[in-house]
Amino acid sequence: MAKPTYEELEKKVTALEQKVGHISHLEAQFRHLENQFSQVEKQLRQRQRMDSLGTLAQGVAHDFNNILSGIMAYLNILSLTADNFSPSQKTYVQNISNAVKRGAATIKQFQQLSGKTISAKANIDVYTVAREVFHLLEKTTDKMIEKKLDIEKGQIFICADINEIHQVFMNLGTNAIHAIEEKGVQKGDYIRLSAKPSPVNRSKLKHLSQGEFYHLCFEDTGCGMPEHVVKKAFDPLFTTKNGSKNSGQGLGLAMVHDIVTKRHDSHIEVVSKLGKGTVFHLFLPKADDACGMPDSTLTVQGGTETILVVDDDVSVRESIKTALEDFGYQVITGCDGEEGLALFKENQKTIHAVLLDMIMPKMSGKDVLRQMLKIDPDVKVIISSGHMKEQYNDPIIQFAKNYLNKPFEIDELESTLRQVLAL
Ligand SMILES: Nc1ncnc2c1ncn2[C@@H]1O[C@H](COP(=O)(O)OP(=O)(O)OP(=O)(O)O)[C@@H](O)[C@H]1O
Ligand SMILES: [Mg+2]
Repeated sequence: MAKPTYEELEKKVTALEQKVGHISHLEAQFRHLENQFSQVEKQLRQRQRMDSLGTLAQGVAHDFNNILSGIMAYLNILSLTADNFSPSQKTYVQNISNAVKRGAATIKQFQQLSGKTISAKANIDVYTVAREVFHLLEKTTDKMIEKKLDIEKGQIFICADINEIHQVFMNLGTNAIHAIEEKGVQKGDYIRLSAKPSPVNRSKLKHLSQGEFYHLCFEDTGCGMPEHVVKKAFDPLFTTKNGSKNSGQGLGLAMVHDIVTKRHDSHIEVVSKLGKGTVFHLFLPKADDACGMPDSTLTVQGGTETILVVDDDVSVRESIKTALEDFGYQVITGCDGEEGLALFKENQKTIHAVLLDMIMPKMSGKDVLRQMLKIDPDVKVIISSGHMKEQYNDPIIQFAKNYLNKPFEIDELESTLRQVLAL
């Protein structure tokens, strides 16, 4: 075989070089795809975790909401006799009522991890919410840690869900206190919430929706985080707190992230260094004219109509009965779906409206409603449920005249009743 010429060899080398170049290009593409794949895989795993949390949340929320509904109703009854209370007793009742509302908000947050409920946005003064959280932290944690609230009353108004923002401050505050405890509390340690006085606009935060945002800083002088913790801090179920003093679920920051980014279309980031403390930068939407004011104008009218209350939880049933009777209504109660339906058939002529729980033994609220509609297509049913809004899209449930999310306050029930009775 003839020896290849120099030119032929050079051609072969060039061809080989091209192939090598091609292979390294393919390799780079492969790496890129591999990278994308692992990101998608990570997101999928996070999604699956969220989904299983969502399922768990629904079960827990159902029972917990029933307990809170009972407490809330009895508190409302107590408040009706508040004239006889001393000022401090009135404050205690108010504080219990606030705690119950916070409990309900926490459950709502837990449900929201599966991304299914709707925030109630209003024009809120950040100072008012933050003051409540800082007051609570001051009462319940080491006094040596200074709680600095560097926001003035009436200065920073945002368009947000008040309970969700309360939750954000509470979770950030609790983490901050834990971080200081972790390091060992020293004189001069503090947690601090401050806000830049003028809002920033969208150009600074390109990925955010239109409008202006307030930049809040939540900082602490705690232990700080190493880089690998910073990277995972917002992941659901990520926690470093397995110690005896502070143990964690790894849910706090996942909730904060969910509330800020998904529910308020806003932004949060964290800057932290091991041993140097931590700052969370939060951007929240400035309130504008389109953002409604909180509705605190519910008043109890009372009435004399007959209401059928069907709920399998005895404390919910009895507390609602007592409260509605106090407002002048006649109340019949049924302890499950079957009994509810039987009572409806027996007293159809006298019943003006029905308050119907959804999840009950023997016969579900939906089946009861289906049967009631057969008897009276105009039956005035209010669904009470601790579950997600989507079930209200159900073709049967849509025949209900209104819906109440458990736990609700008695004045909310009463105003819904008045609205339904007026139809
Ligand atoms: N201010 C902070 N300083 C230092 N580390 C923090 C701070 N905030 C959060 N971390 C770290 O991020 C992790 C996740 O926080 P997250 O609030 O989600 O969960 P957790 O506090 O461990 O548990 P949970 O909030 O459910 O009780 C914490 O375990 C901690 O390691
Ligand atoms: Mg936490």
